[in-house]
Amino acid sequence: MTTLADTWGINEAQFWLRGVRPDEPVQYDDKTGLWNVYGYPEIVQVLSDHATFSSATQRLVPDVAPKLTTEGNLVQMDPPEHNKLRKLVSHAFTPKVVADLEPRIAELTHELLDAVTDRTELVADLAYPLPVIVIAELLGVPSSDRGLFKQWVEAMFDTTNGFTLKERSQEQEAYLARAMEQVEHLRDYLLEHVQQRRQQPREDLLTKLVQAEVDGARLTDGEAVNFAMVLLIAGHITTTMLLGNTVLCLDAHPEQFAAVRADRSLVPRAIEESLRFLSPFATVSRATWKESEVGGQVIPADQLLMVWVAAGNRDPRQFEDPDTFDVTRDPNPQIAFGRGIHFCLGAPLARLEGRVALNILLDRFPDLRTDPDAPPEFMPTPTMTGVRRLPLLL
Ligand code: HEM
Repeated sequence: MTTLADTWGINEAQFWLRGVRPDEPVQYDDKTGLWNVYGYPEIVQVLSDHATFSSATQRLVPDVAPKLTTEGNLVQMDPPEHNKLRKLVSHAFTPKVVADLEPRIAELTHELLDAVTDRTELVADLAYPLPVIVIAELLGVPSSDRGLFKQWVEAMFDTTNGFTLKERSQEQEAYLARAMEQVEHLRDYLLEHVQQRRQQPREDLLTKLVQAEVDGARLTDGEAVNFAMVLLIAGHITTTMLLGNTVLCLDAHPEQFAAVRADRSLVPRAIEESLRFLSPFATVSRATWKESEVGGQVIPADQLLMVWVAAGNRDPRQFEDPDTFDVTRDPNPQIAFGRGIHFCLGAPLARLEGRVALNILLDRFPDLRTDPDAPPEFMPTPTMTGVRRLPLLL
């Protein structure tokens, strides 16, 4: 049977998008040396137990993630450091603070769409620039540098290969070297801004980062840079995919598209369902501190886990008819933003950007549809699920 994932040409490795179920919810992969966690309850168990399943995965792959690039990186920290650092920025992403951004997000969406005529490549015209401008403005770096961010960040995900702990192919080594080089460019760029803020404070998130104190000590340059880097990377490519994926899913389900057009209160539900159906960050990773049992498997200490939230979002034990896109699904406990202490800090912002942009798109282009002569293009990496090109007719 041909599925939407086949039609869209999504990386073959994402079998859960093709109606295929894993043989077991937790599996050790001898080829890569990694444990794959695919089942919803098993994922919830892992993400809820940070004492066993640590986010500090770099200790198991020091050559791929040297300390230089991980200090201050919220995603790779465990308590108590994680709580302290997260508290520093959480006030910048509360529902209230984020809600106040709504007029600016609407204004930017209109400005970007003003440049569009009878056709659009949604990612280049809206889905990429919108979130990147928003996060750049929050941080206080010039949003006009977004061409540079794109170049640096894209190289980090430009591979069709998965990760492995075993011997890497030449192709994998070359990709890693390229990706590290781009990370360095991004770090240098942010370092310049961090140092500037120490000299000349401004009203922005970068200044708050350099001024903030944890246990009486300020963040080092390296910590502030890496923290900002996570926000900049996490703050845009994922929302880009979310917006493109939602339009694509609606287009593939014309009756649901018509229902959403007619009843805009369905927009937030369509976004939640898009997150479940095509989860932008397909996987997060964890490292075991001690032996544990998950899904009937005993996982020893010091093992690396790939926790496939995208597969969990298709688990029939949790979701009825999981391979059906249904904007009326309720409840929809999708886990595309993760679970537990690392639950996505930017979720309120991503949801708001998605809702505002989709509503404006539907207002301005009631006949919006995919172009049969120009199919969508998906991110090549198996760890991401999202469009990187989506041509539309208006
Ligand atoms: C964490 C997904 C948008 C900032 C996460 C995690 C996921 C995720 C799965 C958990 C990582 C883990 O458990 O290891 C997404 C998706 C997004 C999105 C699917 C959009 C559709 C954003 C935005 C921002 C952001 C817009 C920032 C402005 C963060 C940060 C963390 C995080 C800082 C780390 C939180 C922590 O470790 O405590 N995100 N994200 N994300 N996300 Fe997002």
